[in-house]
Amino acid sequence: MKFTVAIDGPAAAGKGTISRAVAAKFGFAYLDTGSLYRAVGVKALEVGRGVIDPVIAAQLAGSLSQTDLDRGDLRTAMAGQAASKVAAIPEVRAALLEFQKTYARRDGGAVLDGRDIGTVICPEAEVKIYVTASDEIRAERRHKELVQAKPELTVAQVLNDLRARDDRDAARDIAPMKPADDALVLDTSDMDIAEAIKQALTLVRSVYDGT
Ligand code: CDP
Repeated sequence: MKFTVAIDGPAAAGKGTISRAVAAKFGFAYLDTGSLYRAVGVKALEVGRGVIDPVIAAQLAGSLSQTDLDRGDLRTAMAGQAASKVAAIPEVRAALLEFQKTYARRDGGAVLDGRDIGTVICPEAEVKIYVTASDEIRAERRHKELVQAKPELTVAQVLNDLRARDDRDAARDIAPMKPADDALVLDTSDMDIAEAIKQALTLVRSVYDGT
């Protein structure tokens, strides 16, 4: 059985939480595709001592290991910025393409979250959701996640960071962030996470017959 749920949207919109809930409910595998770009980004920064070389980034994308994906520093703002820089390099995206496509069509069902799942990785996905929320709400949510590890971080800094990343992700030539034509747009600005999960589960249930 092949069944793909594609969950796209801007930074800190709640994609990961919704994806994990959908995967757990229906017994699907889950891939956080942002972690692939984050892993390439932090490694490229390290190798280039702060400067990202596109050729090296592409090589790193072609040889990612589980250890790279298990690093503890992938969720930092710096990793997010590095991710969005390497994500605009066509050779990096090309190196990660096949793995994601295969994952999306694996037996038993899969949920993938990212920016281009419904448009590029799996245009044939059975369910497509584009999760969004206002910039300010997203910044507050992400600030809550990051502030424990970095108490001096302000909401304004997080907001700037998210906007810079969203602008880069939406403006790039290759696989820009945008809702697929047939995606349900879920604006979670005025919803708590439980309500957002409920709406996503309802949509999947309306399409997935469990076989
Ligand atoms: O969790 P958050 O939404 O903040 O970011 P993420 O999903 O971990 O993605 C980090 C960065 O990777 C994004 O800003 C994009 O530049 C890039 N990305 C992408 O280009 N395509 C994807 N399918 C997933 C992430």
